[in-house]
Amino acid sequence: MAVLVVIFVLVVALSVCFALLKWNEIRYSRRGLPPGTMGWPLFGETTDFIKQGPDFMKKQRARYGSFFKTHILGCPTIISMDPELNRYVLLNEGKGLVPGYPQSMLDILGEHNIAAVQGSTHKYIRGSMLSLIAPPMIKDQLLRKIDQGMRFHLSNWDGRTIDIQEKTNEMALFIPFKLIMETESASIYETFKREFDKLVEGTLSLPINIPGTSYHHGFQGRKNVIRMLKGVMEKRRASSMTQDDMLGYLLRNEGSKYNLSDEEILDQVITILYSGYETVSTTSMMAVKYLLDNPRALQQLREEHLAIRQRKNPEDPIDWNDYKSMNFTRAVIFETSRLATVVNGVLRKTTKEMELNGFVIPRGWRIYVYTREINYDPFLYPEPYTFNPWRWLDNSLESHNYCFTFGGGTRLCPGKELGIVQISTFLHYFLTSYRWEEVGSNKIVKFPRVEAPNGLHIRVSKY
Ligand code: HEM
Repeated sequence: MAVLVVIFVLVVALSVCFALLKWNEIRYSRRGLPPGTMGWPLFGETTDFIKQGPDFMKKQRARYGSFFKTHILGCPTIISMDPELNRYVLLNEGKGLVPGYPQSMLDILGEHNIAAVQGSTHKYIRGSMLSLIAPPMIKDQLLRKIDQGMRFHLSNWDGRTIDIQEKTNEMALFIPFKLIMETESASIYETFKREFDKLVEGTLSLPINIPGTSYHHGFQGRKNVIRMLKGVMEKRRASSMTQDDMLGYLLRNEGSKYNLSDEEILDQVITILYSGYETVSTTSMMAVKYLLDNPRALQQLREEHLAIRQRKNPEDPIDWNDYKSMNFTRAVIFETSRLATVVNGVLRKTTKEMELNGFVIPRGWRIYVYTREINYDPFLYPEPYTFNPWRWLDNSLESHNYCFTFGGGTRLCPGKELGIVQISTFLHYFLTSYRWEEVGSNKIVKFPRVEAPNGLHIRVSKY
């Protein structure tokens, strides 16, 4: 009898599952949509996507081609793995292909953050950002400060076993923080970082605002970060001293081309810190890892940096010409970014129904411009799984049509050069000051983000 009940329950459960899956397929089986599966109502295929990551994408591509539909992270989504189409999507924001980042990210980064604005407002916010971080500013002001911060950060590592993941994470927040508010950085940084890390966690969570959730924590983090930043702004306004840093520049902008409101300034500061944080930190950590495993590349890189040092006194900072001469360093950074795939892709959404690749995409659908697999395309990168920085010495590779390391089109990363400068300066001082060896075997995972879950431990000694 009991067996019959179990069988009955199983049959009912299976029938319900089947009916739900079928219903969800029918719901999204409008004519003109690309092929693909939609999974469960509400949850879609999120679990498969998170669990299997790149393998889920490859499996679906094998069945449906490079342009297919799915339902992940709460939204019907088109996955585009086709390089040409990806390029088209990135270059055509004006046709209704605007950023489509998750609600939690937009809520926590603020309504004025660059990914939340479009059209003329985007132009304006981006213009203001470029006036703070583009190459002329790096050359004249930021590089000197980055150099100083990096020397300080890398001092006293001799004879120690360190977690390089922790160190690069620290460096990728502290140095930009100091570029933004130099005078206050030392006194408020520790508290600020704690709150900012909460904010970052919240941007990658489900938007459920109840105590205990990451989203809720993220909001608390944002509130505290804003409170601290407002405090600094008030103090600065009350004092007559002008400060020669990004915040000083933003506060003095009254009457100039980019005169941001206080709310816009706050979101701008958060965006600068947020965008360069994980990207710079992970690329730096992975460069250390790949160099450990590739002594020939390490040797050549060290020679490049020792040659720069030989031209200078020990206390001389790196200048723009030194940076521009770091060709192999740049190649190492691009190869690291490619092989580790620090950025899997970017998200867009449609503002109206539109035709793409012969299919009709409804309004409000997300498009995941998934660029990861392009990084391992053997036609673009022969022996794609080999760490080979030399391939980037031919400059055309960096600017080829399908190199999306820093995105493309009107949203091309405005912090590209600043990020590369930070990583190059880090490598300069690391390589010319120290040698290092790995301690134990450190696990690295590459999806959903690149990280060493238990840290990447190295023993450092003077070079
Ligand atoms: C290795 C380091 C970096 C990598 C790999 C990287 C990658 C990217 C990518 C792929 C995009 C395109 C996003 C999209 O199209 O939706 C982007 C955009 C952006 N990045 Fe970076 N980035 C890096 C460093 C930085 C740094 C240091 C900053 C700032 C200080 C920064 C600020 C931004 C901003 C503000 C955007 C949005 C641009 C817009 O919407 O117009 N990035 N980045």
